[in-house]
Amino acid sequence: MKKVLGLDPYFEHYMGLLFARIVQSSKLKKINTVVELAPGFRIKGAYFLQMIHFTGTLYVLDTNAKVLTYLKEVYSLLLPEVKIVYLKKSLQEAIPFLPDTIDLLFSNHPLDDMIVGRYLGKLSPLAFNNTFLSQKYLYWAWKQIKRKQLSSALSEDVRSEFQLFFKTKKVRLFILSQYRSAYYRGEENISDQLTHDLFQQLKKEGNSNDTLTCQAFAFDFPDFDVAKEEGFHLKDNIQNSKHWIVIKNEL
Ligand SMILES: C[S@@+](CC[C@H](N)C(=O)[O-])C[C@H]1O[C@@H](n2cnc3c(N)ncnc32)[C@H](O)[C@@H]1O
Repeated sequence: MKKVLGLDPYFEHYMGLLFARIVQSSKLKKINTVVELAPGFRIKGAYFLQMIHFTGTLYVLDTNAKVLTYLKEVYSLLLPEVKIVYLKKSLQEAIPFLPDTIDLLFSNHPLDDMIVGRYLGKLSPLAFNNTFLSQKYLYWAWKQIKRKQLSSALSEDVRSEFQLFFKTKKVRLFILSQYRSAYYRGEENISDQLTHDLFQQLKKEGNSNDTLTCQAFAFDFPDFDVAKEEGFHLKDNIQNSKHWIVIKNEL
């Protein structure tokens, strides 16, 4: 199996736990159909689904073929009892391939990547191949988006993608995180700045249930909370309801 740049299994596990605790607090019964959006070369989703003992059908959506090849190998080991359908498609393109009712749609930190993905179009895999070169390319793309003042238009496109999806599908529980990225520490964090408004709009429009998230996040993980820099402390950033969208729909 190829080494994956920057994958920290403890962090992946911790994130899985946050998603699992939200599902637990939501009291959602009978989860049969799950969609994971934009996992990249990461396995938080698999850890999360293990924790909730999921055995239904999982649809994995990512626009990068290499991501799907990697996940096919890893997810089959981590989720042997789950039927998995891999779709090399964006959220919007996947609409005709997904069931009308989805029990759970979840995604970790996708909005910045969806914005830059829109900008790069067919070239976007070059930014998401998880190599040092792709990280440089990604950073270059953000600088272009900022310089050309394209972030509002691109964010609007991504917002429409979500709106169309929710107009077409019934989603019982939607969970999305978009915390401050530690990735660009030391450099200007353009991606967080330019993603902020889109996240706030989606959170407001969906009437996100912060009470449920606060309940789920009321636990301490002191040994793991090693981020000393201001603003990266877990309770200030990742384990904080303000950086999550959680929408439960009674159908
Ligand atoms: C870096 S990953 C996102 C972070 C990852 N979920 C995590 O937990 O660290 C970004 C992925 O989003 C994919 N992507 C970008 N735009 C997309 C879209 N509109 N629909 C689906 N996947 C998309 C990219 O191919 C890439 O693999």
